[in-house]
Amino acid sequence: MQIAMVSAECAPIAKAGGLGDFVQGLAHELIKSGEAVEVWLPAYDVLRRELISGLDEMGPRLQVHFGGQQIECRLLRGNVEGIPVLLFDPLSGHRFFGRSCIYGEADDAERFAFFCSAVLAHFAQLERPPDVLHCNDWQTGLLPVLLAEHQGEEAQARTCYTLHNVGYQGKVQPSLLEQVGLDAAALMTPGRLADPHEPGVANLMQGGIRYAGFVNTVSPRYAWEVQSTEQGMGLQSLFQENRHKFGGILNGIDESVWGPEVDAHIPVNFGPGSLPKKAVNRRELRLRLGLQETEKPIFAVVSRLDRQKGIDLIQHAVRYALAEGGQMVLLGSSLDPAITRAFESLKAELGSGPDCHLELGYDEALAHLIYAGADMILIPSLYEPCGLTQLIAMKYGTVPIVRRVGGLADTVFDAHYSDKSFEARNGYVFDDATEDALEGAMSRAIALWRRFPQYFRQLRANGMRGDYSWRKPAQDYLKIYKKLCALSVRAGT
Ligand code: ADP
Ligand code: GLC
Repeated sequence: MQIAMVSAECAPIAKAGGLGDFVQGLAHELIKSGEAVEVWLPAYDVLRRELISGLDEMGPRLQVHFGGQQIECRLLRGNVEGIPVLLFDPLSGHRFFGRSCIYGEADDAERFAFFCSAVLAHFAQLERPPDVLHCNDWQTGLLPVLLAEHQGEEAQARTCYTLHNVGYQGKVQPSLLEQVGLDAAALMTPGRLADPHEPGVANLMQGGIRYAGFVNTVSPRYAWEVQSTEQGMGLQSLFQENRHKFGGILNGIDESVWGPEVDAHIPVNFGPGSLPKKAVNRRELRLRLGLQETEKPIFAVVSRLDRQKGIDLIQHAVRYALAEGGQMVLLGSSLDPAITRAFESLKAELGSGPDCHLELGYDEALAHLIYAGADMILIPSLYEPCGLTQLIAMKYGTVPIVRRVGGLADTVFDAHYSDKSFEARNGYVFDDATEDALEGAMSRAIALWRRFPQYFRQLRANGMRGDYSWRKPAQDYLKIYKKLCALSVRAGT
């Protein structure tokens, strides 16, 4: 089967968070099981081009109709560690993707609308278009709509639309629809793209949900939450109406990237059978960050510092970890200047070392070392569609302390209060988004670490033995793709 994964991110060449990991991991696994996958991406200037082999222009240039103009667009083909990629590169001075960033520009909606138009133009000229287009998040929500309007039902039916974050829906002025050649007046009805709560606003994610052949979130629990709680962020009834083609598939992690046995970023590789070697990584982490070598547990945070992640609770956790005699390592990046300022002032207040290191920025290599060297990772998210950091941490013998939401609830089972067998318990879970609840979970974790080290070791080992691979989820996606192909054939006859 030929599958095009259309996305704003793909690790390691274009990653801002878990979406990049998702595309890389799922593509790798599908390719391993014999499928023909290509990842379609904008040709950002910040792509890590040194990691793309055989990069070359392919075929004739596209003429993309956008905003009343014809924009010429090059297609570049290459390969990233076994994954074929196709890059869309607009010419003639159009700097949609020449902004030194993936996201965060005032005209992001326009930039990604252009990307969708370019994808449509490419799709339309292919002799044998892909069997399935796998779209992701609001940036590609327009694609199922464009395919339906320009290519018909048969093409529309072959779209799988995965939602990684319902908190960002792509709410735009209807004039954007005109820019991509759609009839805004016809589409601005509640049954199509008109936002249910904001009059006169077009909602791109809503478009994707209505028009795609199948829609899913990245964990079963989040699929339930978006239909039944305020986590649907206003789209609850839309999800309910579309439940016949809606589900939740838990993400995996790519074990060739996130495997302590093979990870090239860490000083010593280890696995469930060689857990004591984790100590060497812990020592290296302390050395690298200037923390003292001591008998204290290391708490960690590796996160985009976004409201979703529970910013106030993260700040509280930093103070509480130190007050309770732990060490604290935080690696966080933010696009929001107010949040960056808040963490800068926390950093100025707490200083660096001997027990605390707050690093503001994005650092892939340091993230690997933190997972390998820390004892516990804190994830107090307000909502979490899946969450990969708890899965990665568990693989590296680092015990997660998480809030019971979304994918965190689906993957972390409390050491003390869980109906799971002892072997399946792998962390600490709390319910309320309050300092008290967070402290409760952290203090239980510290107590076990101090008083019952053999049980704490067992908890680490349970986490390391869990199967968080892409094997099963990739097969689930494949089943969906096959159903979509059958639907598409039916739509075409
Ligand atoms: P989200 O996609 O919401 O950011 P996930 O848990 O799904 O959350 O995935 C986050 C991914 O981004 C992980 O691979 C994590 O290691 C990485 N990451 C997050 N923040 C940073 C950072 N500041 N530096 C390096 N890697 C980071
Ligand atoms: C989003 C979500 C995160 C999820 C990731 C990959 O960024 O915030 O929970 O793990 O996408 O699906």
